[in-house]
Amino acid sequence: MNAIVDVPAPPHDHKITVRDVTFNITDDSPKYWFDNDPFKTHFFNAFFTTFPPGEEFFVRSVIHYRGEIDDEKLQKDITGFATQEGHHSRCHQDHLDVLTRQGYTSLERENKLIDILGKWANKKYPKTSLVNTLALEHFTALLAHQSLVDPERFVDPAHEDFVPLFKWHAAEEIEHKAVAYDVYMSIDGRYWPRVFAMIGSTIGLITILPIRMAPLLYKDGLLFNVKTWFNGMRFLFGRNGMFVKPWKHYFQFYKRDFHPWDVQDYALIEELQAVYESGELLDIAK
Ligand SMILES: [Fe+2]
Ligand SMILES: [Fe+2]
Repeated sequence: MNAIVDVPAPPHDHKITVRDVTFNITDDSPKYWFDNDPFKTHFFNAFFTTFPPGEEFFVRSVIHYRGEIDDEKLQKDITGFATQEGHHSRCHQDHLDVLTRQGYTSLERENKLIDILGKWANKKYPKTSLVNTLALEHFTALLAHQSLVDPERFVDPAHEDFVPLFKWHAAEEIEHKAVAYDVYMSIDGRYWPRVFAMIGSTIGLITILPIRMAPLLYKDGLLFNVKTWFNGMRFLFGRNGMFVKPWKHYFQFYKRDFHPWDVQDYALIEELQAVYESGELLDIAK
């Protein structure tokens, strides 16, 4: 077994804290809850609701290799990672249930398919599943980073029912961003599978999100509305767009000696951790 990679100094020793929270996302929450905008809202609806089957896939992918890990700290981190992701799945499923009741039923059906494919991949191709997990975890970490460095654009426009969910999930994605990576480096660590996984994951995400969004926009009579798409594309791919601004962060993954903590963004979540500890965010969430 390879030794665990050398991780940059702090925050290697940080603890992954499990925060069992629930949120106030209900049938009474506004339909267009992000910036009162259908495209942006449905982008987040499509993206967030992949988490229940997606993060369960991540957890199975990592847990599969648990028996091959000697490092005590990494064992603890695996537990923290799996438990955090379990809570994320549950909270995003609550959101999905609201959407299903609102008549956006395609997401739940698509999730069943993602779940079947994920379980099949875990069983047949455990290493490919793991390496794809760390590629997708890089995505969640960079989008989390993006949200927390630019909240005016990527968090604050959300309705107050959703803001705590954004912050909580973003903080925990940063907190556990290296776990799948460290497990992979401990059991294999080859460079090229990691690169191919990232290329495949990027294509997969770019493909799956519009596929998931289309029925939502269609239901609202907006699928062929040029203005809706123009504004939405600007939000995602325009200047400072969600998928444009973090390009440097994205490409770091392709460096041979990359490690998730090369991006030293732990400070971004220390403030939020303090808020949690004071109970303030939980008060909003409950
Ligand atoms: Fe998560
Ligand atoms: Fe994650």
